[in-house]
Amino acid sequence: MSTIDQYLESHAARFEDELCQFLRIPSVSADANHRDDMHRAAEWVADQFRHIRCATEIIPTAGHPLVYAESPPVPGARTALVYGHYDVQPPDPLDKWISPPFEPSRREGNLYARGATDDKGQMLTHLKSAEAWITAEGRLPLNLKFIIEGEEEVGSHGLETFLAEHADRLACDCVVVSDGGQFAPGIPAITYGLRGIAYYELRVTGPNRDLHSGSFGGSVTNPANALAQILSGLIDDQGRVTIPDFYDDVTPLTDRERQEMAEMPFDERQYFEQIGVVGAVGEAGYTTLERRWARPTFDVSGLWGGYQGEGAKTVLPASAGAKFSFRLVPNQDPAKITAGLKWRLTELCPPGVDLELIEHHGAPGVLVPLDSPYIDAAARAIAYAFGRRPVFTREGGSIPIVTTFHERLKADALLLGWGQDDDNTHSPNEKFCLADFHRGIKASARLWEELGKV
Ligand code: BES
Ligand code: MN
Ligand code: MN
Repeated sequence: MSTIDQYLESHAARFEDELCQFLRIPSVSADANHRDDMHRAAEWVADQFRHIRCATEIIPTAGHPLVYAESPPVPGARTALVYGHYDVQPPDPLDKWISPPFEPSRREGNLYARGATDDKGQMLTHLKSAEAWITAEGRLPLNLKFIIEGEEEVGSHGLETFLAEHADRLACDCVVVSDGGQFAPGIPAITYGLRGIAYYELRVTGPNRDLHSGSFGGSVTNPANALAQILSGLIDDQGRVTIPDFYDDVTPLTDRERQEMAEMPFDERQYFEQIGVVGAVGEAGYTTLERRWARPTFDVSGLWGGYQGEGAKTVLPASAGAKFSFRLVPNQDPAKITAGLKWRLTELCPPGVDLELIEHHGAPGVLVPLDSPYIDAAARAIAYAFGRRPVFTREGGSIPIVTTFHERLKADALLLGWGQDDDNTHSPNEKFCLADFHRGIKASARLWEELGKV
């Protein structure tokens, strides 16, 4: 066994304990009440780097701080930039968690906690593999720069600004990101495409006060009715978004891609069974994998208005609102989508209510070339740790900063991922399989060696 693998084995238990420490910090970026926790999480990450002799800095932003670290220099060697995020999604609804979200709990080989897989556990695999090299071998086989942000789940504004001003500091040959998943248990993957996103909030206001729904109903526009009507009007019965020109820039799937997706070992029945849903739906003319990975969509994420308490209350609410987003595919421009959406909303809005549209965040989709020596290096490292070569997949989720890395650093991303489809990301009972955590560290350790040889 190599020195590195020996080191990983003998420190495996401590790695898990450290992940638990990290997971106990409730670093919820969306919630201003967690500001101090965001700083604590950044400090925790920075300390990890300091312990392995990395030059480390906490960089303040207008939002949550960035953690930047450089491994001890290896002159003449290549440089990889490792990206990850220490922020997590809000843990609600709390009553659906079997164990509390910020008290990590081990059950059946999994570690349950908010952020376990997205992205604290995955991010830590790269830190621990760097530790192994630096401690056991005295140095890494390449130069590593780490940029760990605290705003991925809310749009990466601080890191965007940092990159606009200091891209030179992050100069690198390639970017390594582990913030996604494997294709299925036992089938590791390299992701070559991510969807983009355009996220909004819509506020509908009508009468100047709540009204008796019997006395007034039928004579005034009900903002909640109007909201339902508007939202349902954004998508047609073929599952297509009704915004003008919405599909104009969509990069279509190639025949080759469609064939490859069709040949994926995708167990559709099990996919729906696992989430408790009967029957596939979505844009007409596309398969489930195509819909998830390579077609744009519209989804409401939150909806409010009127009476939510116990029993019935006959009220016509003065206002209602929703949060919703479009997932975009490569070549769609979030700014164009906003312009089209505004136009479509004026068409859909009934008289008697006012609309206010708030733009939360937007990011274009990504496709990374597969014919690169870095991809080959990553495939070898993954095969070494997971016992089989990765499949090449796209993903439906978004990592906004990946596009910016490409534009500003002229470096392509290696989108790796050790998670599973049933990890419950953004949902109660998020988990990370501990065996995947350790395989991830092993793959990452091998990746440094393979990238160093490119
Ligand atoms: N790690 C996810 C993105 C992801 C999900 C990649 C599944 C691959 C597979 C990331 O943390 C995330 O949730 N991103 C947000 C971005 C948004 C808030 C701008 C997303 O996709 O909703
Ligand atoms: Mn993530
Ligand atoms: Mn996420």
